[in-house]
Amino acid sequence: MVIFGAGGDLTKRLLVPALYNLAHTGLLPDNIAIVGVDVVQQDAAAWQTSLHGMLQSFLGDPQSESRIDRIDESVWAKFTARMSYVQGDFSDHGLFELLRQHLEELDKQHQTGGNVLFYFAVADRFFGPLAEQLGHAGLLDEQLHDGQPQRWRRVVIEKPFGHDLESAKALNARLLRIMREEQIYRIDHFLGKETVQNIMAFRFANGLFEPLWNRDHIDHVQITVAETVGVEHRAKFYEITGALRDMVPNHVFQLLAMVAMEPPSGFDAHSVRNRKADVFAALRSVKPEDAVRGQYGPGAVHGETLSGYHEEPGVAPDSSTETYVAMRLSVDNWRWAGVPIYLRTGKRMTVRLTEIAIRFKRVPFAPFEDTDVERLPPNWLVLQIQPDEGISLQFEVKQPGPVVDLAAVQMAFRYRDWFPAEPNVGYETLIYDVMIGDQTLFNRADQIEETWRAVQPILDAWAKEPAGHFPNYFAGTDGPQAADALLQRDHNEWRPLPRT
Ligand SMILES: NC(=O)c1ccc[n+]([C@@H]2O[C@H](COP(=O)([O-])OP(=O)(O)OC[C@H]3O[C@@H](n4cnc5c(N)ncnc54)[C@H](OP(=O)(O)O)[C@@H]3O)[C@@H](O)[C@H]2O)c1
Repeated sequence: MVIFGAGGDLTKRLLVPALYNLAHTGLLPDNIAIVGVDVVQQDAAAWQTSLHGMLQSFLGDPQSESRIDRIDESVWAKFTARMSYVQGDFSDHGLFELLRQHLEELDKQHQTGGNVLFYFAVADRFFGPLAEQLGHAGLLDEQLHDGQPQRWRRVVIEKPFGHDLESAKALNARLLRIMREEQIYRIDHFLGKETVQNIMAFRFANGLFEPLWNRDHIDHVQITVAETVGVEHRAKFYEITGALRDMVPNHVFQLLAMVAMEPPSGFDAHSVRNRKADVFAALRSVKPEDAVRGQYGPGAVHGETLSGYHEEPGVAPDSSTETYVAMRLSVDNWRWAGVPIYLRTGKRMTVRLTEIAIRFKRVPFAPFEDTDVERLPPNWLVLQIQPDEGISLQFEVKQPGPVVDLAAVQMAFRYRDWFPAEPNVGYETLIYDVMIGDQTLFNRADQIEETWRAVQPILDAWAKEPAGHFPNYFAGTDGPQAADALLQRDHNEWRPLPRT
């Protein structure tokens, strides 16, 4: 495994902890060799020391997503014995010649079978050039025999994959000139989350829900990805990206695909990705009037004063970058015609929460006219992705007593009540899948392009007309009022975000 960007944040905070977790659970092959490549001047020992320090402080951090609490030094020693470091600049052809020789030596030393996983943990401007350097040096050659690789060469591409439809198409074309689609693993780390993968199991391994999973029974769907954090130290990236590009065509649409896809004919990559691609292809391009943008101003959470986006370090005082977006989507197919799918995502919101909420249709009113039933909320099925992973169903019961009074109650399943927590930073499954050649959880070229196509009208409209009304929500609240109006048009309302 070759990690480009070995000295970077992603490698230190997520990739190496994930690899360490895989080593800890015995899921790394014994003959693996891990090569770090970066411009940072250091040797393998210094790289390992910095990773060890980072892993240790990360494990000690109560906010960390890792569930391991300390490094097992014997695992770490075995793990680092397999690590080497090559220093150089990605623009230098000589680096790739050096790398080729190094990989040949490692192959002899560890019998890696000539198989190499290249991980691009680098800024997106390097994705194309790095692939070209690898191709030029012959490092992506799989020596096909009867269409089957004699050895595999796979490339993991981080996000963002393009910044609009045109750039995503151009990047796909650039990569596909050098390698086959089967060699490309476009990552979206939301798909590494257990609860996201569980949506498919929940829908297709239980006979109960699937018959109801359509326009006859579902009134609408709400997808929420709310963060409490602000822009933090990422202003340089965020100022040119914004909430829409950062979250919607990738993470949020992955959740949408899991909820909206037809049952695949099998759980192999081909079948699952075909069904997800169908959802993206049926997604109607979003009209500007069906989208709302927001930016947080100063506010307070739990008595702590929070700055507005304009006051954050590195942000232009007149920035019109959105930190919140809400949309109304339509999936134009037999199953979903006429069912609005609302999504919202934002920074500095009341709580950290990712959930998909499915609202079922109300019962026919005839027998309950002018009774409390008319005012009761309809059934909600909520798939909670984070922080408290689980599934809950809200339904109505009769309250005990002589009078017919109804109340909404919940049946709730929480992962942590049933399964022991595995050490996990979210990248373990994805890295493991690349090693075994399973592309199910990775995006195909056509999927990426369809998702950008769906949001392109909004990108165009917002680029033409910078928001003149920012900030429009207080930090620590549920988002701008215009987002409420978006649902009110359909006589709906957002599920209130829980108060902590
Ligand atoms: N960090 C995260 O939490 C996170 C999460 C999800 C996805 N991602 C994605 O992962 C990728 C990497 O992000 P990151 O935050 O780890 O970036 P990063 O911290 O900037 O790391 C990139 C590394 O590459 C090095 N580098 C830059 N230019 C180089 C060159 N010409 N030749 C050789 N090395 C060079 C950098 O060195 P210098 O520092 O000296 O420039 C740095 O060590 C990005 O695509 C990002 O969008 C990151």
